[in-house]
Amino acid sequence: MTAEVRVTTPAKINLSLGVGPVRPDGYHPLATVYQAVSMYDEVVLRPADRGSTAITVTVSGDGVDVTDVPCHEDNLAARAVRLLGEHVGRELLVSLHLRKRIPVAGGLAGGSSDAAAALLGADALFELHTPRAELAALAAELGSDVPFCLTGGTAMGSGRGEQVTSVMSRGEYWWLVVPDPDGLSTAAVYAELDRLRAGRSARPPEVPDALLAALRAGDIEGLGRALSNDLAPAAVSLRPSLAPLLRAGSECSAHGALVSGSGPTTLFLCESPDHAEQVGEALAAVAGRNGLELAPPVVARGPVHGARVTAVHR
Ligand code: C5P
Repeated sequence: MTAEVRVTTPAKINLSLGVGPVRPDGYHPLATVYQAVSMYDEVVLRPADRGSTAITVTVSGDGVDVTDVPCHEDNLAARAVRLLGEHVGRELLVSLHLRKRIPVAGGLAGGSSDAAAALLGADALFELHTPRAELAALAAELGSDVPFCLTGGTAMGSGRGEQVTSVMSRGEYWWLVVPDPDGLSTAAVYAELDRLRAGRSARPPEVPDALLAALRAGDIEGLGRALSNDLAPAAVSLRPSLAPLLRAGSECSAHGALVSGSGPTTLFLCESPDHAEQVGEALAAVAGRNGLELAPPVVARGPVHGARVTAVHR
C-alpha cells in the first residue's frame, strides 16, 4: 500500500479568452488559448486514518491567503477524489493536504489545478491506472479549467473551456504576475460581462490567428500585440483599480498587459526575469502615484507541464 503521493500542479493563464453569448445551461462558449505557468501548488495525499469515514482536507498557504479555501468535503480536490471513487466503484478515503502558492480566486485556476492534482494523486495512491482519457473526462465534470490543468503546456480550449487540444508553441515566455489581495468570483465576473453586454449580441468566440502565428514563430512582440481577454471589462468594472495598472503596463516596456482569466490578477509579458523585475519597479511607481497598494509580484515562466506526480512513498 502506498503511504504518500505528492503532486505538483501549475497555475494557468489565458493568452486569449474569447467569450460567446451565455448558453441555456448558464455557461459561456469559449475560444481560448491556455498556458501553464511556473507557479505551483502541491497536493499531498495519504490514505485516511484507520476508522475514518470521510475525505479530509487541510490547507496551508505559502505566501498566499488561504482563509477562503474550504477545508472540508466540498473542496473541489475532495470532490475530484470522490468522483474518481464513483468511477472505479470503490470508496477512496484519503487525507488531502493542499500547499498553496497560487493566489486564491485570482483567475489563475488554483482550485481547478488542485482538483487535477487530486485526480492524478488518488489514481497513483490507490494504483488504479485509470486511462488518461478517462481522467480527462472526470476532470471536465469537475470544472471548465480542470482538463487543461492535467495537460499543461500551451493549448486551445473550446466548449466551455473543457475541450483541450495542444497548440504549437516555440520558446519560453516570462510573466510578471501581479496578484490582487482580494479575489473575484469567476461566476460574478461572467455575470458582470452579461450585464455589460445586455441587449447586444456577442459573436461566437474565436482564437485570433495572429496569436497562434506568434506562438508558432516564438515571436514575443507579436504575442504581446495579440493578447486579449473578453472578461477584462467585466473584471475592471468590478475592480476599477485594475485600470491604471493595465494602462501602466502598456506604457512601460512590457510587451503586453492582460487580466488573467476572470481576474483580478494581472499579467505583464516580459523577455527575461531581469526585464520582469524592471517592469515590476515601473508598475510599483505607477501604483504609488495612484495611491494603490501593489501586492508583491511573482515572476513566472511558461509554458510548463501540467499536474505531475513528484514523489511516491511506499
Ligand atoms: O467550470 P467552473 O466551475 O470553473 O466555472 C465556474 C463558474 O464560471 C460557472 O458556474 C459559470 O458561472 C462561470 N463560467 C461560465 N462559462 C464558462 C466557464 C465558467 O459562465 N465557460
